[in-house]
Amino acid sequence: MRRKLAAGNWKMNGTAASLAELAVLGAQLDDEGPDVVVCPPAPLLYRAVHAAEGTRIDIGAQDCHMQSKGAFTGDISAEMIADTGARYVIAGHSERRDAHEERNSDIRAKVSMAWACDLTAIICIGEELSDHQQNNTLDIIAGQLAGSLPDAATAHNTVIAYEPIWAIGTGKVPTLEQITQVHDFIREKLINRLGQDVGDAIPLLYGGSVKPDNAETIFRAENVDGALVGGASLKAADFAPIIAALARS
Ligand code: 13P
Repeated sequence: MRRKLAAGNWKMNGTAASLAELAVLGAQLDDEGPDVVVCPPAPLLYRAVHAAEGTRIDIGAQDCHMQSKGAFTGDISAEMIADTGARYVIAGHSERRDAHEERNSDIRAKVSMAWACDLTAIICIGEELSDHQQNNTLDIIAGQLAGSLPDAATAHNTVIAYEPIWAIGTGKVPTLEQITQVHDFIREKLINRLGQDVGDAIPLLYGGSVKPDNAETIFRAENVDGALVGGASLKAADFAPIIAALARS
């Protein structure tokens, strides 16, 4: 059985007051349920780790630098993230690929750095609307996966999140057939590259406008092991029902 994971990406939202949501969410989680991780903005990481103490919520960062240290003003290293007590880091989110011009090779380097600091990397891949419309999705996904994922991936150090860019923050969600097709394809690529055992065990998340009212449908796809949730992860009242739907799936 693959582990199930619900991950929340707060993006550039939230202040210290928002951390109260972690206690509310944590109190609603069953011991047996899916793994849960929340990725707040970097200034909140340390406090978030403490706010989540005594709950089943793990904390993650939204990005790390590809170098271990040095003259990189404003950047944050994987070691610094691990030092806060966080256990995950998102790598290659489409908003960073776009606004910060991150290439697959950069993301691969960031993932290696995350692993060196015992962080689990949530590697994001996903196509733009034009690629979706021209039926190029699988080619784009294959290229991003091949380029962003280092060879030493395991089910412990790696989570893959498929986030079609056109579905992020738009309320548009691919059909269950489309999600199934892409996730089956990613699973096949992972097995071909990493072998049956590792390829089959790496959790695959779907991301893009996951909400309490569509989560149950999305989780029907066999190779969807969870979700990477943006807007609906900000409030426990929205995130908790998504986690509950995953637990039932
Ligand atoms: P939304 O759930 O707000 O569409 O964001 C998805 C996302 O980008 C998570 O990383």
